[in-house]
Amino acid sequence: MAEALAAEQPSEHERSFLWRRLHSLSGVLPIGAFLLYHIYENMTALRGPAVYNEMVSHVNTMLPRPYFYGLELAVIVLPILFHALYGIHIAATGRPNVGRYGYPSNWAYWAQRVSGYVAFLYLIVHVGVLRLIVTLAGVHLAPYEGPAHGQLDLVTYADVAAHLGNPTHAFVSSPLAGNHMFAIYLVGTVLTIWHFTNGLLGFCWTWGLSVGRVAQMRVRWLSWLLFFALSAATLHILFVMRFGD
Ligand code: HEM
Ligand code: HEM
Repeated sequence: MAEALAAEQPSEHERSFLWRRLHSLSGVLPIGAFLLYHIYENMTALRGPAVYNEMVSHVNTMLPRPYFYGLELAVIVLPILFHALYGIHIAATGRPNVGRYGYPSNWAYWAQRVSGYVAFLYLIVHVGVLRLIVTLAGVHLAPYEGPAHGQLDLVTYADVAAHLGNPTHAFVSSPLAGNHMFAIYLVGTVLTIWHFTNGLLGFCWTWGLSVGRVAQMRVRWLSWLLFFALSAATLHILFVMRFGD
């Protein structure tokens, strides 16, 4: 009887296989999808502060508040926490090593892990300042006259520009705003994007989407293409917000 029960329980190996799959999936859906959407929405900065503030307000009022927070928690916060913590566990323990075969070289495999740590640190700074301190706690980094009647108190274009050290918007340089932040963003965003696009190699391998050398080469080319496109858009946004009016 005890033996029959034991046979029904998933083994240690099967359990870690399932967690591994979930980790792989979470990097693309929903986190990778969120990254694409997030860069797309931030591109409104290229059309000026008014359009950017309008976008922030629109995104925040699309749903009633409880649904908005529920969706944010389910689609962004919890998946990133799970992916980051399990990712650190994998990187720190060096196991299981099946994912290694999805990468073209040992270098790409290890760089995936190192860029994961960088993404983790970048997101603590980025979300900590803009989402928690500015939007949720209402501590603005640039002069703010308060929301119009009936409107929400949200992060503004001027806050992000000040955060990146833009002197037109930064009324005080502080640990939360300045050139050091701009430097952190240059490195943090590009390496986080690289972590995602290089991760697509491992993802396609894990899910059997790139069987054979030709398919793997194609995925590699596509992932580099995606890396350059997303990095160019992100750097464009950062330079406009840092050096623009
Ligand atoms: C051009 C670069 C970027 C800009 C200007 C930017 C801007 C912002 C702003 C303004 C917020 C606060 C939104 C709010 O409080 O309503 C935010 C939140 C966030 N950003 Fe970024 N971001 C950039 C790049 C990235 C990258 C590369 C990632 C990596 C995945 C990222 C992940 C996040 C996350 C997870 C949140 C919290 C979202 C939430 O909980 O609703 N951002 N970003
Ligand atoms: C927040 C901190 C993060 C950490 C610590 C982290 C860590 C990791 C690690 C260690 C791996 C490699 C797993 C392995 O080699 O077996 C990985 C894979 C991956 N990550 Fe992340 N990651 C983070 C954020 C992100 C973000 C923001 C994205 C997407 C925008 C992402 C997308 C991916 C993808 C697509 C994979 C490949 C999955 C696979 O190999 O099947 N990660 N992550």
